[in-house]
Amino acid sequence: MILPIVGYGHSVLRIKTNDIDNSYPNIQQLIDDMFETMYNANGVGLAAPQINLSISVLVIDANPFKEDYPEGEGFKRAMINPEILETNGEDEKFEEGCLSLPGINEVVIRKNKVKVRYFDEKFEEHIEELYGIRARVFQHEFDHLNGKVFTDRLSNMRRAFLKKKLNDIANNKVHPAYKMIK
Ligand code: NI
Repeated sequence: MILPIVGYGHSVLRIKTNDIDNSYPNIQQLIDDMFETMYNANGVGLAAPQINLSISVLVIDANPFKEDYPEGEGFKRAMINPEILETNGEDEKFEEGCLSLPGINEVVIRKNKVKVRYFDEKFEEHIEELYGIRARVFQHEFDHLNGKVFTDRLSNMRRAFLKKKLNDIANNKVHPAYKMIK
């Protein structure tokens, strides 16, 4: 089922999410719905707050990047209660966008390696080293679980420049091809 996506300005995007355990009902259905919602909007990642659920769940599919970033191939994951164990590597610039901030694309600096721990939809634990585009998409989605969006990582000057665009999204004046809720 395709779910509506929460737009910038909604308070759920600003709350730190709660971990869940294996008593959470219908987790497989939720994850299927998150992937379907993400693909419908041509996204490469989606975090639960973006569908108005304040729980620590995210989905990623970086396969669309594989032409330009070979490490994107095969990186399709559902991650429950993810944690960053280590952040390494170099600062890297990359132009990001977000389904909750349609029409905004800005260069964000992040580290290009992270070691993460998470549970999959069967609640099996994984520890994985992510690099390049894998680290990029993960860190963007992980920010959502901590109440952050990518524009928070821009300079004050850049954010001031975007203020009208951000206000327009918050005031429901931006209408992408997918369904949004305020
Ligand atoms: Ni996002």
